Amino acid sequence: MAYNNNNVILKIRNLNKHFGKLDVLRNINLDLHKQEVLVIIGPSGAGKSTLIRCINRLEEPTSGEIYLMEKKLIRIQIITN
Ligand SMILES: Nc1ncnc2c1ncn2[C@@H]1O[C@H](COP(=O)(O)OP(=O)(O)O)[C@@H](O)[C@H]1O
Ligand SMILES: [Mg+2]
Repeated sequence: MAYNNNNVILKIRNLNKHFGKLDVLRNINLDLHKQEVLVIIGPSGAGKSTLIRCINRLEEPTSGEIYLMEKKLIRIQIITN
């Protein structure tokens, strides 16, 4: 199956998660397509668990958008002056 915009299962746009002054996720963007396997690798403390916890809503992202099967799960916008 070709990966294209019509078979995106999970879409993440501009996802940020900060714990206080610690920027764990900075502007994460990804598309996961039907039948695609995505592996997130990185050293301990890189933010892998924080990313999955934002996707499954165990953590509240600081800002960004997450869509599952085109349904918007979350959209958090931070407005700064
Ligand atoms: N609830 C939390 N409060 C404060 N800092 C956290 C919290 N959860 C994770 N962190 C910090 O965020 C960073 C990324 O952690 P984590 O997502 O668990 O990394 P990984 O799963 O890649 O090892 C680490 O510096 C960790 O200490
Ligand atoms: Mg982890």
